[in-house]
Amino acid sequence: MAPISIPTRTLNDGYAMPWLGLGTWPLRGRQLTDSILGAIEMGYRLLDTAYNYENEDAVGAAIRESGLPREDFFVTSKLAGRHQGKPYVRDGFSASLERLGLDYVDLYLIHWPLPRVGRYVESYAEMVALQQEGLIRSVGVSNFLDEHIKAVVAATGVVPAVDQLQVSPSHAQVDVVREVSDHGTVVQAWSPLERNSGILENPAVTAIAERIGVTPAQVVLRWLIDRDITTVPHSSHPERQRLNADIFGFALEPADVAAITALDVGAPVRQDPRTWEEF
Ligand SMILES: NC(=O)c1ccc[n+]([C@@H]2O[C@H](COP(=O)([O-])OP(=O)(O)OC[C@H]3O[C@@H](n4cnc5c(N)ncnc54)[C@H](OP(=O)(O)O)[C@@H]3O)[C@@H](O)[C@H]2O)c1
Repeated sequence: MAPISIPTRTLNDGYAMPWLGLGTWPLRGRQLTDSILGAIEMGYRLLDTAYNYENEDAVGAAIRESGLPREDFFVTSKLAGRHQGKPYVRDGFSASLERLGLDYVDLYLIHWPLPRVGRYVESYAEMVALQQEGLIRSVGVSNFLDEHIKAVVAATGVVPAVDQLQVSPSHAQVDVVREVSDHGTVVQAWSPLERNSGILENPAVTAIAERIGVTPAQVVLRWLIDRDITTVPHSSHPERQRLNADIFGFALEPADVAAITALDVGAPVRQDPRTWEEF
């Protein structure tokens, strides 16, 4: 089967990032490497990992085993909470690079702001230094709200290229997405399919899917794209991987986008960036 062509989006620093990539949590080891190799054949080039997923080695192995040039890939990793703070960022970053077996990452994110710890601004500044040394192409953040982005921009003058946020039909995050986008930061949705916990059976989603002849997961992922949001769905299942990526040949009507956005009934997210802590 011919590979799917996943379009790229230009970030505020000029680098191009695929609109859709492969989430890798919670797989590890050979199972993940094999799963990624299949996804690469289908056309995936963006691979989303993190120090805390303990699977960067499997991601690096897949890149090497694919036989494709390193520059064909867009590799994202994330600074763990334990490595926040000026003296620790380099250690955390170097450990990721070593696990990956790469000499640069395309995108490096602060995994969570951890505002109570109070070290995300100095951590970001250190990442900007690593960017200037050519070890990180794009600097970004994850789970950052407007207030956190304002703080890092005020300190460094560098606007995050990407903010990876929890966005899905139950958590449409309309205000947060608008505020983050207003900075010139590209939003990238994590858990876009809500880990298959029911949204794919929601009648509003299935009705649209049936009408336009695609799967419910494709409707949800396309709803993000039509909101100008990039995303990294995870699947270990080859057919789901293929269908999840095959969302660039159709678009939703504005009324369908609105109908899915309306599924958000305001339930609070479990991991609130203002209070969530993981290290
Ligand atoms: N920055 C952060 O704080 C953060 C937090 C969480 C996650 N992430 C990243 O975001 C990625 C995606 O999020 P996620 O893995 O939490 O959730 P997700 O992508 O919403 O859902 C993944 C789950 O949905 C299932 N699935 C995938 N495609 C499907 C389809 N077409 N039909 C039915 N079920 C499907 C998968 O099962 P199968 O494998 O069986 O297909 C898997 O169990 C992660 O892998 C990780 O890389 C980042």
